[in-house]
Amino acid sequence: MRKIFIFLLCSLFLKSGFAVEGMWIPTLLKKYNIEEMQKMGFKLTAEDIYEVNHASMKDAVVLFGSGCTGELISGDGLLITNHHCGFSQIQKHSSLEHDYLSDGFWAGKRAEELINPGLTVQFLVKMEEVTKEVTKGITEEMKEEVAKKQLTANIEAIKKQFSGKDKFLVDVKPLFYGNQYFAYVYEIFKDIRLVGAPPVSIGKFGGDTDNWVWPRHTGDFSLFRVYAGKDNKPASYSPENVPYHPKKFFPINLKGNKEGDFTMVFGFPGTTQEYLPSQAVQLLIEKSNPNKVDARTIRLGILEKQMANDPKVRIQYASKYAGISNAWKKWQGETNGLLRLHAIERKQKEEAEFSKWVMQDANREKKYGSILNNFKQYYASLSEIQIAYDLYNETVLRGSDVFGLISRVEQLEKALNDSAKFNAQRKALSESLPGYLKDYDCATDQLVLPAMLKIYVERLDPKYLPQNLIDKKNDFIKGSNTGKAYQKSIFSDSTQIKLLLNNLQAKTFKKLHKDPLYALYSAITEHYNKNIEPTYLKLSQEILKTQKNYLAAILEMKHGERLMADANLTLRVTYGKTEGFEPMDGVYYQYYTTLKGMITKEDPKISDYVVPEKLKQLYQSQDFGSYANSSGEMPIAFCASNHTTGGNSGSPVLNANGELIGVNFDRCWEGTMSDVLFDPERCRNIALDIRYALFIIDKFAGAGYLLKEMQLNR
Ligand code: ARG
Ligand code: GLU
Repeated sequence: MRKIFIFLLCSLFLKSGFAVEGMWIPTLLKKYNIEEMQKMGFKLTAEDIYEVNHASMKDAVVLFGSGCTGELISGDGLLITNHHCGFSQIQKHSSLEHDYLSDGFWAGKRAEELINPGLTVQFLVKMEEVTKEVTKGITEEMKEEVAKKQLTANIEAIKKQFSGKDKFLVDVKPLFYGNQYFAYVYEIFKDIRLVGAPPVSIGKFGGDTDNWVWPRHTGDFSLFRVYAGKDNKPASYSPENVPYHPKKFFPINLKGNKEGDFTMVFGFPGTTQEYLPSQAVQLLIEKSNPNKVDARTIRLGILEKQMANDPKVRIQYASKYAGISNAWKKWQGETNGLLRLHAIERKQKEEAEFSKWVMQDANREKKYGSILNNFKQYYASLSEIQIAYDLYNETVLRGSDVFGLISRVEQLEKALNDSAKFNAQRKALSESLPGYLKDYDCATDQLVLPAMLKIYVERLDPKYLPQNLIDKKNDFIKGSNTGKAYQKSIFSDSTQIKLLLNNLQAKTFKKLHKDPLYALYSAITEHYNKNIEPTYLKLSQEILKTQKNYLAAILEMKHGERLMADANLTLRVTYGKTEGFEPMDGVYYQYYTTLKGMITKEDPKISDYVVPEKLKQLYQSQDFGSYANSSGEMPIAFCASNHTTGGNSGSPVLNANGELIGVNFDRCWEGTMSDVLFDPERCRNIALDIRYALFIIDKFAGAGYLLKEMQLNR
């Protein structure tokens, strides 16, 4: 009976199409969105979300690190984000003796919270449109370099003005490819401590197998605390620092949402490309994604074996593996989604309409008449170069640990004549070196690097390759002298690497050029820098200019209509409903999952599906405290039709009253093309049900004292 009811409900919702495409600018909600949001059920106002002079929701949302979102859930600076956002911190504190990845970590009291050098959170103080100020004094007739200089000077002036006596960080970022500019003012906190994290068997349950997939049973959360100086202002780490008292934190709602209820996500989406021309989409589908995916398939295969064979390597490469596999899987979903939507043809149709509009008016034709043709030409030239660019980045620059390290040493060589730059880079490198060495396994790297170079050589036109790689007898790639090269290289020996960094001068670099790995990297990179990069950069710039003009035209064509600006890692609001979806004909995915489903999925033989004993006991005794849903089930995750992207991980998912009901952590695989083309029927964000986090903290970890500082609304 219940099933029939859900089905009827679902078909109703499917037809009415609740999903709203777009990641909206908080200061423009009043103009473009709030009415629609309220119609969909939102009970608050635009000012409740963003207000400069009073506490508003924006004061409880932070950019966590450099690419995630987090939100405050107590007056004492307690912050929740995803387990995968805190993963590298949890991993850095872990060793075979203290395996916080496997066992979880819970600070018993504030003095036990763990410091994380380098980790920051940023609060948005305010944002303002500054298009006029940024473009002041710049004319169409100006030479490009002159205009660029003026633009840089204008931006510097704006930064100075906004930074003020508080020395806030100011970012000025383009929207619509530079047809608009906004200034963003941030307060940065630098003492952020780890408070708690569940074991990976909860925080990463399903692992990379279930990543990007709905239905999902991952308890993807971790807790941190923001610390400040005694004046409640940002301060570098000091034992004297005290918990930060935010202007606002989110109350938590224990009732959850029903299907069809309003939800919004408030966070820092990173990048979308909703205005690409058809040729760009084609390049993505046919060349970029497949090449990158293939390179990663090989790399992941090697890492998987190595990690399975050695528990030390498993810990060393856990974070790297997760990172590599994440984009690898997403690119595949994106390609599928774009093909299914016939994205290329759709874009072509839009372009035909655009063309018609341009032709209607002589003036328009003069301004915009060449856009589509330019795209066509530039992308025709870019196609081959793009393969070289993608593969160089995937297989050489970031393809192996050792080349990653060497690339940074090579940057130092380039900075030899600029002592300030040199010293800053050397300091940064020295600081990150212990982490690098702790997570480096030479035997693994020796398998990865030649495999990566092999695919580089196989896929590139020989004209893009340096002589020593084309050489048919290349023993390095074949593996016959790889071991020797590593043995001879100083980059496989931690003592020698440390010595090198302490003793870097022009002389040392001369010697380095005889190092087999350094020499190999330099040869490939030099060739790349000469023969690939300049053309790539030139074409990319031309394409960007065309995109800017294209967007100017679209803004003119759609004048007065609401248009979404692509995500740019700034605070945005997106809204929709909690709702399931139809991934394929005849199948409907319910909008939430439960602990029962996790227990059913358990498989002690597969590491991704191991369920901790204690959790099983809690399930068996149905000991869910006050965290169960109204049917008595323990909910784990839910999906909703909010348009989100990478960077939205950790974002608060809020109900109609602005209470926290979930923490965003993923998108469904069938909808990952939403970075390029949104499909209201299939694009869903995936959130952890906040009740599951509370249940784990309280019942599983016995850290219920943390709940006392939260505001729980029943
Ligand atoms: N897909 C999510 C995101 O893009 C989660 C990634 C982390 N989880 C994982 N199993 N690798 O960040
Ligand atoms: N997991 C992603 C993140 O780290 C969110 C998923 C997405 O790309 O939407 O931001």
